[in-house]
Amino acid sequence: MAARPIIVAMPKGGSGKTATAIAFARALASAGRRVLLVDLDPQASATAALGVPPGASAAVQLLERVGRLEAVRLSDRLHLVPSPGDGSLDAAFEKARRLRGLTAFREALRRMADGYDHVICDCGPSLGSTTLMALAAGPVLAPVETTRLTVAALPRLAAAIAALRRAGVAASVLAYLPTRHASRQTESREALEALRAVGRTRVLAAVIPQSTAVARSLAEGISLFDARYRSSRAPHAYLAALGEVVSRLEVGHE
Ligand SMILES: Nc1ncnc2c1ncn2[C@@H]1O[C@H](COP(=O)(O)OP(=O)(O)OP(=O)(O)O)[C@@H](O)[C@H]1O
Ligand SMILES: [Mg+2]
Repeated sequence: MAARPIIVAMPKGGSGKTATAIAFARALASAGRRVLLVDLDPQASATAALGVPPGASAAVQLLERVGRLEAVRLSDRLHLVPSPGDGSLDAAFEKARRLRGLTAFREALRRMADGYDHVICDCGPSLGSTTLMALAAGPVLAPVETTRLTVAALPRLAAAIAALRRAGVAASVLAYLPTRHASRQTESREALEALRAVGRTRVLAAVIPQSTAVARSLAEGISLFDARYRSSRAPHAYLAALGEVVSRLEVGHE
């Protein structure tokens, strides 16, 4: 059976999407699952954090090839579709949307998902065709930095999903993951409360703390689950979040 994708998306810069996509991909691969991580951000942050040069033809390949995609093998069980790191990603999505509609990426992903247990897509912050078509490709996990501005961006995500549904395309939020939480700061605590008021049962119980381990692991390209970060709370919080997400995926959602 082809893997059900997880679309990591939130239309606000710096909300923890890339950190979350990479942490989940690494944790699942370490647990013996075969994982494909797809970098859908023209900024190519995930590609860079994983030490891979931007892949010039990846997006075009993704949308236009009928056969299997050539992903970069980071390990036996963790493969990456790199972002080209320029405007060609959005151009390829625009073209596919024009020619084949909003579900073109969902179909491309389905062809590639064969052979993987999990497919994780890391979206960029903008809500252009690339992100919109990604939102149509599977259940959305939205990392939400616990700040007022990030919580205020939630209606933009909801509006994009509503627009897809009006166009007859299935799309939904699987879960909201509070990230970069600074529990000692009033603004952070209030934003977490506001997120729970809006997202209710979709807000995961796990909260990812603001943590230098996360920032350093991304900057240095080292797994957050490396022994050097053992004393940090962040890897444990990410494992708890992943457990919740996987069980929600198994139960299914409307
Ligand atoms: N839990 C955390 N604690 C501390 N720093 C974090 C945490 N999560 C992410 N960061 C840092 O915050 C910045 C933004 O994180 P990240 O790149 O994951 O966000 P993003 O949502 O993918 O951003 P963009 O919208 O630009 O793609 C990065 O420098 C990252 O290292
Ligand atoms: Mg990112």
